[in-house]
Amino acid sequence: MRSIQKSQSKAQGAKLEKRKAIGARFVLLRPAGYPLKSIFQEHPVVSDAKLFERYAQEQWYGEKLAPGCYLFDSRLYPDFAFQVIKVYPRSSVIGSQTTIKVEQKEKPKNKVVYDVRFADVIGQETAKRKVKIVEKFLADPEKFGRWAPKNILFYGVSGTGKTMIAKALSAETGVPMLAVKSTSLIGEFVGEGARQIHSLYEKAAEMAPCIIFIDELDAIALDRRYQDLRGDVSEIVNSLLTEMDGISNRKGICTIAATNQIEVLDASVRSRFEEEIEFKLPNMDERLMLLEKNAATLPLEMENVDLKEIARQTAGFSGRDLVEKVLKAALHHAIMDECNITQKHLEETVPLARKEYRQPPKAMFS
Ligand SMILES: Nc1ncnc2c1ncn2[C@@H]1O[C@H](COP(=O)(O)OP(=O)(O)O)[C@@H](O)[C@H]1O
Ligand SMILES: [Mg+2]
Repeated sequence: MRSIQKSQSKAQGAKLEKRKAIGARFVLLRPAGYPLKSIFQEHPVVSDAKLFERYAQEQWYGEKLAPGCYLFDSRLYPDFAFQVIKVYPRSSVIGSQTTIKVEQKEKPKNKVVYDVRFADVIGQETAKRKVKIVEKFLADPEKFGRWAPKNILFYGVSGTGKTMIAKALSAETGVPMLAVKSTSLIGEFVGEGARQIHSLYEKAAEMAPCIIFIDELDAIALDRRYQDLRGDVSEIVNSLLTEMDGISNRKGICTIAATNQIEVLDASVRSRFEEEIEFKLPNMDERLMLLEKNAATLPLEMENVDLKEIARQTAGFSGRDLVEKVLKAALHHAIMDECNITQKHLEETVPLARKEYRQPPKAMFS
């Protein structure tokens, strides 16, 4: 009883103190963020300055102000912090007459940073055709309505241009792409992965039209049979399904996911993709084109090389293998030898690359 009285009188005292305190004329706040942060968390944006002022006056009525101190939102964005940058007069409190301003951060422009074009992608004609539709959709999402392309799956051997096509799509359309490795969506705590997915889609909705590119989808959307290995992935799968279904009716978002192991994907996730596009290993002509195109950008001259012969020897190599394991390795050897790139430099890389390479089944060779 006594302690209640004590705390009541303490509260009354505080109220009196607040009444006595000088009301601030002006406060400038800077959004400082959350004390803890998830990777996609964005700062809330003030939608109406006058409305925010009223909201802030009410929730922080009587708060003591000093430059540098923090005010925490406790309603719409619990625990989002604002730092007091300026206050006039000094050491005053928020009152009903206080003008409260929030520093306006320049809205980041959704700059497209990729400089890849469809023309740079060799082969993969089916994928190029499909992304043309997505390109048309992103240019005019309204037109498609409920017939919009929503979820597309790229699958096939690693290093065959899946990421490249997604980047080219973003570059050609000028539509921003949120690219995530699915492993980065798995959080340390239960529920975190599901939240990450939710905020990824929220962010995309803000930026719409927007492409979401989920790489290595198999890492989170494992077949139920394997999900026991990682108990937390099933919640991620469920959250992904919700977003992909577009229950929340998000418009102008196209999800492209990529995997090297389509056979281990969870069946319900897999069924959400309206199209599965296979990326194949390059054939002889495509390998030659890949070699020629990339060789043209090497910083050393080539001397008497027969790229056709290299293309012949590299059946089963992906585009990435040709770039990283053949051309780059040959260049590095030539630099060590302090001479131009020769046929020998190139040919020497092939058996080494093949040894490292997880040999695909024979049928995939061309
Ligand atoms: N079809 C292709 N055309 C041109 N370059 C390719 C192609 N496939 C792979 N490459 C080269 O290999 C690199 C890796 O390709 P990437 O798109 O990341 O493969 P994936 O996403 O399928 O694993 C590219 O940056 C490019 O240099
Ligand atoms: Mg990739």
